[in-house]
Amino acid sequence: MDFNLTEEHLMIRDAARDFAKNELLPGVIERDEKQEFPTEQVKKMGEMGFLGMMVSPEYGGGGMDTVSYALAMEEISKIDASCSVVMSVNNSLVCWGIEKYGSEEQKQKYLTKLATGESLGAFCLSEPEAGSDATHQKTTAIDKGDHYVLNGTKNWITNGGTADYYLVIAQTHPEKKHRGINAFIVEKGWEGFEIGAKQDKLGIRGSDTHTLFFHDVKVPKENRIGEDGFGFKFAMKTLSGGRIGIASQALGIASGAYELAKKYSKERKAFGTEICNHQAIAFKLAKMHTEIEAARHLVMKAARDKDNDSAEIDLSGAMAKYYASKVAMDTTVEAVQIHGGNGYVKEYHVERLMRDAKITQIYEGTSEIQQIVISRAILKD
Ligand code: CAA
Repeated sequence: MDFNLTEEHLMIRDAARDFAKNELLPGVIERDEKQEFPTEQVKKMGEMGFLGMMVSPEYGGGGMDTVSYALAMEEISKIDASCSVVMSVNNSLVCWGIEKYGSEEQKQKYLTKLATGESLGAFCLSEPEAGSDATHQKTTAIDKGDHYVLNGTKNWITNGGTADYYLVIAQTHPEKKHRGINAFIVEKGWEGFEIGAKQDKLGIRGSDTHTLFFHDVKVPKENRIGEDGFGFKFAMKTLSGGRIGIASQALGIASGAYELAKKYSKERKAFGTEICNHQAIAFKLAKMHTEIEAARHLVMKAARDKDNDSAEIDLSGAMAKYYASKVAMDTTVEAVQIHGGNGYVKEYHVERLMRDAKITQIYEGTSEIQQIVISRAILKD
């Protein structure tokens, strides 16, 4: 199925594929083991234009569509999901939100650097007690006239230690509940902004995830995004598109594991023949291939919906993430199984892909959150 991809789409996909193979594959096992942030690799991703793919060239971006972004995300995730989460957060959660809803001043000051990869962004919504239940923000941003004073804690923040700019969601008017929430751009190094220890994770270990603390951080009023009280809608709209990035990541993890398992099954012999000739293995490969193709259809549909500004984006993005992340989990478990004892060994890559797959069912909304979004959409009429 070619999904009506243009020459340009194919060029971007191939460039991402080559980049992943040549620049990300070497060292991916070591970075995972040492939890080492891929500093050099992320820098090169910026140079290649992968960190601001959809941003308008006016602000230093690639001016590409969501389909291109999904294709590049898939290729990079086949090899290194730690790099692709950095890419996903910067592109869809940070750059997109600032370009769509930020002021011209914010775009000139922040987006131009984020889009080129000169600076990195983080998206700070989750809190120790507000992960899925995002309306219950405890972080406060109190209006002091020409500035806000920010206090609170954010949890599980991707790029938490490496970002330069942080989109922080906080409650300004508690009596208005989610309608009193705002979003702010906060710079690393501002007084009272403390970055907690790096979290020791099961997967995507090359990416850095931190708890962040805000103690009376002074945020200039011009750093608020949109009208007063727009913050929760801003977060929801941003996440709605962001889920396409994670769906593409999940698809890439699944495809990467499938390709490794297929190759291995054609080389490894048991009971007198290559193991792919045994139905026990061939049937697994058939299932993996079919499910990956189905996931790809959902991802492409969601990407096209985003490009067409379709009202269906919440539903299609949630379906793509829900299904692709399940396929990533199922496929990687089977890829390990096909590899047998070797699957449990780091040098074969599939055990890492299996560990990386799990987060796609958790971040940017758990699978259960996607089911809430899907069921609300299908039941509303
Ligand atoms: N677009 C615009 N507005 C939206 C929206 C959307 N997609 N979804 C909800 N809203 C609006 C609603 O219209 C409503 O506003 P009004 O009352 O003014 O009409 C408001 O938001 C609240 O909506 P709900 O009543 O539906 O709220 P809820 O409490 O039932 O929860 C939810 C909705 C979908 C469960 C939401 O809380 C949610 O998505 N939770 C998950 C949060 C999440 O994904 N966290 C991940 C953190 S980011 C991350 O992981 C990044 C990383 O580092 C990789």
